[in-house]
Amino acid sequence: MSTLVTNIAELVTNAPGADDLLGLRTGAALVVEDGRVAWVGAAADAPAADEVVDAGGRAVVPGFVDSHSHLVFAGDRAGEFQARMAGESYAAGGIRTTVAATRAASEADLAGGVARHVAEMRRQGTTTVEIKSGYGLTVDDEARSLRIAREFTDETTFLGAHVVPPEYADDPAGYVALVTGPMLAAAAPYARWIDVFCERGAFDEDQARAVLRAGADAGLRGRLHANQLGPGPGVRLAAELGLAAVDHCTFLADEDVHALRESGTVATLLPGVEFSTRQPYPSGRRLIDAGVTVALASDCNPGSCYTSSLPFCVALAVREMGMTPAEALWAATAGGAAALGRSDVGVLVPGARADLVLLDAPTHVHLAYRPGVPLVARTWVSD
Ligand code: NIG
Ligand code: FE
Repeated sequence: MSTLVTNIAELVTNAPGADDLLGLRTGAALVVEDGRVAWVGAAADAPAADEVVDAGGRAVVPGFVDSHSHLVFAGDRAGEFQARMAGESYAAGGIRTTVAATRAASEADLAGGVARHVAEMRRQGTTTVEIKSGYGLTVDDEARSLRIAREFTDETTFLGAHVVPPEYADDPAGYVALVTGPMLAAAAPYARWIDVFCERGAFDEDQARAVLRAGADAGLRGRLHANQLGPGPGVRLAAELGLAAVDHCTFLADEDVHALRESGTVATLLPGVEFSTRQPYPSGRRLIDAGVTVALASDCNPGSCYTSSLPFCVALAVREMGMTPAEALWAATAGGAAALGRSDVGVLVPGARADLVLLDAPTHVHLAYRPGVPLVARTWVSD
């Protein structure tokens, strides 16, 4: 079964090596066959196909690749958000509220929540999503979270080192031993990645290093939450270890930026967090100008950022972080793919997965030009 999508006013391919960042083609068409992109070219040259879809002179972009989310949770923290908007500041400790609710929830309720949020993402054009554990923080609850996440994506991340749970408040070293021992053993079969919240109030550099090392020994690739609430060692640790990505990167020294450029570690910016915590935004411009690869992700979670919308993040990145519409879209598609070490998503070139989004707009610029407007007309996902 082949499908020809034609009459595309602007096709964003993100083709590596193209003259422009987005590999833009106007007056384009694309053929999908067996879940893959089979052909890309000018509409006038399009081959025949079993089915034809008329894009109606609108834009087609790669499906968004959301490389950072925390969807396995119960409860919400609207009250905490309300308090922040009245002047309170965000603290890592709020995570424990969600941990209590998540432990008390049934597996069916947790899975139902993930399904709802993944569907919400899909409606906004996200076709690949990474999902972390991190609100269980016991051996069984972390394994359960990852088992649930695995039903929705292969990009699952073990985040047992999110915060030290209350029962280990007096014994953080004991908790790290649990995370690197029995919890990791129970989680690893369901996880591709391992992550640590390396921040004051969560885990320090030595603890993060120990967790990442244990994860690597268990076959998990590393990523980090770092430099979100203040300057710290996390970004440099990520670069030193050659991790695929380090996420947040809100407070960066020049040496951090330099280390990211040298290592090739992707800096994943999560502007929904700054929006929802009233923190200063990270500078995408500074990173891009320094030659760092930047990704944008939602960080969808009930505490620091409860948005599932990558179009919203794109708009924020353009308005608040010095990024052009093209840079922001690239970061939310090909950048997210780079953060997950993937070359089959985030691009629309022959052989790539046929994950694509038809926008109710003539160009990708409208994603930032028309913030808050539901521009996703149709999403195709190859699975
Ligand atoms: O990425 N930074 C740590 N973890 C989440 C926050 C989770 C929460 O507040 O519940 C984040 O922002
Ligand atoms: Fe996060």
